[in-house]
Amino acid sequence: MALDRRAPVAPDRLPSAEVTSLSHDGRGVARVEGKIVFIDNALPGEQVRYRPGKRRRAYDTGAVVDVLRPSPQRVTAKCVYFGVCGGCSLQHLDPLAQLEIKQDQLIENLEKIGKTTPETVLPPLRGPTWGYRRKARLGVRFVPKKGGVLVGFRERRKSFVTPLQHCEVLDPRISILLPSLSEVITDLSCPARIPQIEVAVGDNAVALVFRHLDPLTEQDLNSLRLWAQAHRVQVYLQPGDLGSVHPLSPPNPEPLYYSLGENEFDIEFSPTDFIQVNREINRTLVTEVVKLLDLNATDRVIDLFCGLGNFTLPIARRAAAVTGYEGNPVLINKANHNAERNKCDNARFACVDLDSEQSADVFTRQKCNKLLLDPPRTGAMQVAKTLSQCRPERLVYVSCNPATLARDTEVIVNVHGYCLTAARVVDMFPHTQHVESVAVYERG
Ligand SMILES: C[S@@+](CC[C@H](N)C(=O)[O-])C[C@H]1O[C@@H](n2cnc3c(N)ncnc32)[C@H](O)[C@@H]1O
Repeated sequence: MALDRRAPVAPDRLPSAEVTSLSHDGRGVARVEGKIVFIDNALPGEQVRYRPGKRRRAYDTGAVVDVLRPSPQRVTAKCVYFGVCGGCSLQHLDPLAQLEIKQDQLIENLEKIGKTTPETVLPPLRGPTWGYRRKARLGVRFVPKKGGVLVGFRERRKSFVTPLQHCEVLDPRISILLPSLSEVITDLSCPARIPQIEVAVGDNAVALVFRHLDPLTEQDLNSLRLWAQAHRVQVYLQPGDLGSVHPLSPPNPEPLYYSLGENEFDIEFSPTDFIQVNREINRTLVTEVVKLLDLNATDRVIDLFCGLGNFTLPIARRAAAVTGYEGNPVLINKANHNAERNKCDNARFACVDLDSEQSADVFTRQKCNKLLLDPPRTGAMQVAKTLSQCRPERLVYVSCNPATLARDTEVIVNVHGYCLTAARVVDMFPHTQHVESVAVYERG
């Protein structure tokens, strides 16, 4: 049907489509007159009426106006901002169905890109689906026309900030602060010069890092101190790059930490450090990784992309020795501190760029029979290529991007002769399109 996109169209004259699958960013995918259409808020199996959006050469976009035949897995989104806020994309789909779709994506990637099928697909690792997010970067925008400062995640595919009064996926200790955060920034001398706030929740405290592009006045500092005291949170300031982050209130805050196992380990971190966003599922994942490595007291393990030692220290307890490698020297210092704090004297750490061609010369200096990888979204191609230099008998790969996991798997399996014995999805990011997973390989 040809539509003039500028003229208002009665809803019953809008085009309809049969949705066949879900795209990697959570939109329904349909084929209309031979062309792919990505439709916001549509689910596989549904017939929907949609308002056409952008037209591209290879595809069109649209947004659901009416669901003519709903999916049995459709649920009412819990959050009033759902559909506008870019923080979540799948709240309208039952959480178990979200995991089924993520598992299908994982297997499809492994088969198509990795040219490999796992011997076993383990059931998804599940945790709490609401209030789970303990780390986030919130956008801040001063919009006087909308009543002051907006604080929240970016809108879907837009640069506007969603004015959140609460958030269903953020840790409730952060969500509850959102309205008063907006007020305290509105009253600063330069509300338009605060672009973002980084929030981090430890087991012991909540911390917020205010990025500010202009110097703050004495009055600004006082009101932020009072705000921090009233809400019992730690406030940090960031006038420049990450190195400029410093505490405002209290002046010497207690270090943040989170515990692992049966409170066996405390991992200390700073509010801008990488930590796994979902506290509960991270605890489950660490236990799972230790199990999948099948550790015993003679094992020598290498943990690549080790960060603060999140996996390294629990591995150290069950193996003869473990060495963690990581590219960020600040995290290496903290990992060493965490090893000391937890009395893991068989854990060592070293800084290396694992994307560099020489990195294998560094990490293969240590003999190892088991290897763990937990790379960023870009994956670990360089490590995969040089696997022959250490040839571990067992390899566990934790991934936040099934496409790069599958690409690296192709090399691990088809070049180095490993067997992909198991794979499973991990529900690290409920209601979002992000897919966390873990894969296990054994030497053939
Ligand atoms: C997904 S995080 C995992 C961290 C840690 N395993 C954990 O569970 O908290 C990926 C880590 O890889 C590190 N990283 C990113 N690029 C790197 C590179 N080229 N070489 C070494 N480390 C890198 C990051 O600093 C980050 O700590």
